[in-house]
Amino acid sequence: MLTLRGGAPRRGDSLSKLGVLADGAVLVRDGRIAAVGPRAQIEAHKEARQAEKLDVGGRAVLPGFVDSHTHLVHAANRAEEYELKIQGASYEEIARKGGGILNSVKKLRAATAEALKARARVALEEFASHGTTTVEAKSGYGLDVASELKILRLHQDLQREQPLEIVSTFLGAHVVPAEFRGKLDGAERYIALLLEQMLPEIVNEGLAEFCDVFCDRGAFTRAQAQRILSEAQEHGLAPRLHAEQLSRTGATQLGVALGAASCDHLEQVNAADIRALAKSKTVATLLPGCDFYLGWQDYAPARKLIEAGAVVALATDYNPGTSPTVSMPMILSLACSELRMTPAEAIVAATINAAYALKREKHLGSLEPGKQADLAVFEVEDYREIPYYFGMQRCWMTMKKGEIIYVRD
Ligand code: NIG
Ligand code: FE
Repeated sequence: MLTLRGGAPRRGDSLSKLGVLADGAVLVRDGRIAAVGPRAQIEAHKEARQAEKLDVGGRAVLPGFVDSHTHLVHAANRAEEYELKIQGASYEEIARKGGGILNSVKKLRAATAEALKARARVALEEFASHGTTTVEAKSGYGLDVASELKILRLHQDLQREQPLEIVSTFLGAHVVPAEFRGKLDGAERYIALLLEQMLPEIVNEGLAEFCDVFCDRGAFTRAQAQRILSEAQEHGLAPRLHAEQLSRTGATQLGVALGAASCDHLEQVNAADIRALAKSKTVATLLPGCDFYLGWQDYAPARKLIEAGAVVALATDYNPGTSPTVSMPMILSLACSELRMTPAEAIVAATINAAYALKREKHLGSLEPGKQADLAVFEVEDYREIPYYFGMQRCWMTMKKGEIIYVRD
């Protein structure tokens, strides 16, 4: 049993502390952890005698994964682009020709809320079957008032209608939509729409907790990101950023200056960006699934970030264009083989540090009394086998708030 006890955020050496119990047990009451410790001690607990006992047969138990970066709601896959990329077209070339994010926007606008919800629900079941119990979800394939609201309201419906916890993020600033492109001040006029019409409605209905901006070449500039995130912050939405993925824009240092919850991607960070992250509480969220899928060699400098003292997290970035996976175990495999993180560091980055990136470290991310009973059980003898078996289904059971939500048959 990996308890991950010991607080958050974790940096440097504390990124490796899993709080291992060789023969552990956890006592659950009303969906929360009442006690955790060596099995003999928990079994002797007076409440344990009346409790229903679940023996997981010596398998590995850890906190459910917290996936702190996904684009959950979208209408369709983009497998056709996968083939184009293999044949030599770049991600940005495909986007310039109307593929990429704008392709997903067109499809989302045409889709009914029911169809979008059905697709997201299937994905959420798949998240659960890979050991994930909390999913951050971004809007950003709507990019007009009605469609962005459609996505964010779906986050709320999904939160109510299925067991996984959804953390909602407004990403109206994903890219400038087609109808504003090639027009005088198009980007500025879209930002005005975002700030004057989308944001007040979202705040009014309580539809998002975070605001994100894709600050990059072909998306939004650092100055635009600053305006959007500052205004969102005044409305009570905490900032986070897609930063330094395709090019270095200075988004990371903007994020640090704004006290952003996280800066995500970070393939193109420089030494000053790494220092700024290391001195801050802004989480460096790495998304190696994108680099793997796009066939890029320049993975984010995880070792440098860890050695400098940054708070590192890992997420899937589940989306149809750069990371079509819900599998946190696969992300751990990539983090170990490509980012040179150790299995222990990768597990900390996918649980307690990811919970911190979503401001939920008091409730999620470790097995400690008072926290939610969110558990993943893996068919392994040693936790290192979780990243070791890549692309394999070793998750045996998933529990959310004390309820079994997935069990392998
Ligand atoms: O996180 N970088 C921007 N957004 C997504 C990709 C979205 C898409 O291509 O549909 C990402 O990689
Ligand atoms: Fe993303």
